[in-house]
Amino acid sequence: MPYQVLARKWRPQVFQDVVGQEHITRTLINAIKENRVAQAYLFCGPRGVGKTSVARIFAKAINCEYGQPGTPCNKCTSCVQITEGTSVDVQEIDGASNRRIEEIRELRENIKYLPSSSKYRIYIIDEVHMLTKEAFNALLKTLEEPPEHAKFIFATTEPHKVPLTILSRCQRFDFKRIPISLMVEYLRKITSVEDIKISESALTLIAKQAEGSMRDAESLLDQVISFAGRDIKEKDVIDALGILDNSIIFDITQAIIQGNSKEALKIIDKIYNHGYDIKVFYRMLMEHFRNLMICTIDPDLLDAVKEEIDNFYNQANLLGVEQIQFILDFLLNKEQELMFTYNPRLFLEAIIIRLCRIKELFSFDDLIKRLEQIEKRWLQVLEKQDVLETEKQKGHIELEEKQETKKDWDGFLEFVAKKNRPMFNVMKGWLLEEISNNLIKIRPNNEGFSVSYFKEKETYETLRSYIKEYFGEDLVPKLVISKQKRKKAKNISEPVQELLNIFQGKIVEEHKKEEDHERIS
Ligand SMILES: Nc1ncnc2c1ncn2[C@@H]1O[C@H](COP(=O)(O)OP(=O)(O)O)[C@@H](O)[C@H]1O
Ligand SMILES: [Mg+2]
Ligand SMILES: [Zn+2]
Repeated sequence: MPYQVLARKWRPQVFQDVVGQEHITRTLINAIKENRVAQAYLFCGPRGVGKTSVARIFAKAINCEYGQPGTPCNKCTSCVQITEGTSVDVQEIDGASNRRIEEIRELRENIKYLPSSSKYRIYIIDEVHMLTKEAFNALLKTLEEPPEHAKFIFATTEPHKVPLTILSRCQRFDFKRIPISLMVEYLRKITSVEDIKISESALTLIAKQAEGSMRDAESLLDQVISFAGRDIKEKDVIDALGILDNSIIFDITQAIIQGNSKEALKIIDKIYNHGYDIKVFYRMLMEHFRNLMICTIDPDLLDAVKEEIDNFYNQANLLGVEQIQFILDFLLNKEQELMFTYNPRLFLEAIIIRLCRIKELFSFDDLIKRLEQIEKRWLQVLEKQDVLETEKQKGHIELEEKQETKKDWDGFLEFVAKKNRPMFNVMKGWLLEEISNNLIKIRPNNEGFSVSYFKEKETYETLRSYIKEYFGEDLVPKLVISKQKRKKAKNISEPVQELLNIFQGKIVEEHKKEEDHERIS
């Protein structure tokens, strides 16, 4: 027997075989049982998640001669013909290659006739969004006055391209991507029936590459089988599909956590020599930190297998929410630049080296201080609210805003936090130096990392607009940086310079005396 590709061989033939779309199959089964089948359905969703399969099962189920309601027998003439694609009453039309009005006109001619041997004439139009405008109009006329014996199932990967007039006449179902765990389970079923030995990690790797498409997963499995035969290890999958072993992402994150830039550079070197696309790697890294973030919220929300969830959990614990959020923001911020740079490798190295210094920025003491600050701030806010509330109720006071700049600054940071979380993350812990004339002087405490954030003129302008909104004055933000800090920052002078440029920074000589001794170069 010739080799039949897995995706064909394993097309689900009854609703129960369809993985991960219970929300849809259950509704369809009930509709058939209760005799409430709609005139037209629209199946939306990414490719390879079961739209065509479900459409065929549905067509079979409503035309089947013997099966229980909602379960096609797959033996009667109607069922067999639908499976083989030879049924006269159930037609599959590829919207991409039959997109012209002529084809829809033909459909309109044929639809009038009663089905030849079954209950319904069913039209399955795949990629329906490809139809021309004229074809859509013709189709709409049919949908407005369809014969009793006609049913439509439209499928599309791009529902937003389907005209509203059509949408509003269909019952819509959104197919989901298949979660990794369900996909692994299904692939396991396939491989054991096909008598293929394959490790759990190898299956997981395939499932991940498929990005939610079962068809892709099956095709990848085909590919691996023809590469490695019937005894498959994780390494075979990596080699056959030319993929980057995901553990490398964990490794580089570990290096970042430990502040081990040497190790991190080694890993980048490995990636590079592997011939792997740095930009793709960068996306994987962002995805990884997104997962770590999710892990801090609720590990159950992760789309991963058990063993990997443990790994995520460990790393998330080592970093903590604050650092994860910071790194994620940082990576997101740098993404654009990385995509356009001529030397992504160098750029990646620079980014990773900076991230390896995250510990310095988030030292333990620093964290405690921050927590105390937050706590204090909250108490102040609560206290103030409390007092004001009672006083207001008593009618004792009229509210009047007093200018207390130090306190206002805390208020402003809270204001920013509400408006713009990433900006707040950069600015929290920054201090207000003074407000004078039309200047607002701000003292940062983490210049090395926040540079990238305010580099955008737009971001700077946003900050300025927040200041205006909050303080009611168009104050120009200026950076104040102490001589001492600047000296310490000499080896990272490039980012500091950047920051200074952005803020048209001004250096305040804190220690006049010290300065006197300094040579001016
Ligand atoms: N939900 C699913 N459960 C089981 N297999 C699936 C599923 N979705 C897709 N497949 C596999 O992928 C193949 C193609 O699926 P298909 O229904 O044509 O996807 P779509 O129409 O959404 O692109 C099927 O023959 C089957 O092997
Ligand atoms: Mg399809
Ligand atoms: Zn049947």
